[in-house]
Amino acid sequence: MTRPSLVMLFGTALAAALVSAALGGCDATLSPRPKSEGESSAAVVVDEDRSGPYATGKSLSFEPALQPLDPSPVKEVRLDASNKLIEIAPGVKYTAWTLGDQVPGPTVRARVGDKIRFSMTNRTNVTTPKLRIAAPMLHSMDFHSAMGSPQDLFHSIGPGQTISFEFTPAYPGVFMYHCVTPPMVDHVAAGMYGMTVVEPKGGWPTKADREYVVVQGEFYARLDPERRKVDNFPVYVLDKERALARTPTQVVFNGRFNGMVDRPLVARPGERVRLYVLNVGPGSSSSFHVVGTIFDRVWLGGNPQNELRGMQTVDLGASSSAIVELTVPEKGDYILVDHYFANAALGAIGVISVSDKVPPLGQAAEPAKAAAPETAALQTGEHQHEQAKPADRKINDPEAAKGKLAFESKCVLCHSIGGGAKTGPDLQGVTRRHADAWLTKWLLETEKMQKSDPAAKQLVAKYKMPMPNPGLKAVEVRDILKFFHWSDQREGLAKN
Ligand code: CU
Ligand code: CU
Repeated sequence: MTRPSLVMLFGTALAAALVSAALGGCDATLSPRPKSEGESSAAVVVDEDRSGPYATGKSLSFEPALQPLDPSPVKEVRLDASNKLIEIAPGVKYTAWTLGDQVPGPTVRARVGDKIRFSMTNRTNVTTPKLRIAAPMLHSMDFHSAMGSPQDLFHSIGPGQTISFEFTPAYPGVFMYHCVTPPMVDHVAAGMYGMTVVEPKGGWPTKADREYVVVQGEFYARLDPERRKVDNFPVYVLDKERALARTPTQVVFNGRFNGMVDRPLVARPGERVRLYVLNVGPGSSSSFHVVGTIFDRVWLGGNPQNELRGMQTVDLGASSSAIVELTVPEKGDYILVDHYFANAALGAIGVISVSDKVPPLGQAAEPAKAAAPETAALQTGEHQHEQAKPADRKINDPEAAKGKLAFESKCVLCHSIGGGAKTGPDLQGVTRRHADAWLTKWLLETEKMQKSDPAAKQLVAKYKMPMPNPGLKAVEVRDILKFFHWSDQREGLAKN
């Protein structure tokens, strides 16, 4: 896009910014500086196509486990606009548009009065085999935690351009950031959103043992009309009509169907857990609930002055947030869920896994350990962002991937694979314990088997309840068995 047409689109603010960029050169000349809370500097746009990592800054958390506050009063934050193929559900490779190269974008953590020095390069013209399909278009960044002229701060930039601005958050809370380029519904539905956590000046009034971020959002995916494939998997793209009709194909926590089920959040019995919860929409409300506990405190918007006590749910419209604090009294799997259960059925489920085996505070917990290679991959800028645990990676048979999806939709709340018995048995090694024909019959004719088959009767006796018929179609059972075989083969490989 040429400059004159950009100016026509976005008016004098951009023209002024371009002039100031031409005069001033780089972001070292930003003026005027924000002097106090709530102030922001004028945005500067330059024709600079930066390479390197898509997201940088000591104040960023790339994983649900929220990193401690970076003590620096100035937070340098870079979140570039990108296109990236991400797996939003098993086997569903989606061409997301991102801020910071992941969905949701990295969480920014700051304190009231800190200066956030932000920059973004629009890098949507990049194609990389298996990872990026270029879709050059305008993008922008709107921080809800900032105050200033939207036409200045949040205006759009084209591929190969970089925008910079500074602001000083005035209010504590949990704020959304997102691309605000029209049509906004497309840009948010495609994945351009994340969270900023702004702490009160004196910190939070309570002490939490664990802090996690939960961002709920919807995907509206359809098969790529050009029928492109990556590693044999079909590519999915944004379904604009579904987005407008608000009929999502997935509703997710932290960017993934059944987010945090196969990689749960963790805590120890008796600990106090603080969840930073944000619903980005763009089409649905969330009635956020945690099965097995009560929210001791709810701070609406994440501001401790908006306190509610003893809540079972918190209702979050699009771009609404809350901090919820709860204790997990004893070991078990406490289930995060959108109590609009239609949304839960589309993937808005997660788990806080509470056990004595979780390392005590101060020692690395599971999610933090997993973060290291993830972040390293992100720094190199060109690796697939995968949120599955290592054992779940590289499922390369599309039918097995569909089986994993069916398993995660219909079986995972009662069964684990390698995570121990739940309501029903651990299914690791199930293909060695039973023949395929038996498993097929068990899954399709569950009631009949429990009356007549000796092995099935034993299971019912052992787990003290019959298994409900999972309601699977024959083709789903075939795919699930393929997934079980894939899983058991991987387990065998891991042992050798
Ligand atoms: Cu955008
Ligand atoms: Cu907004």
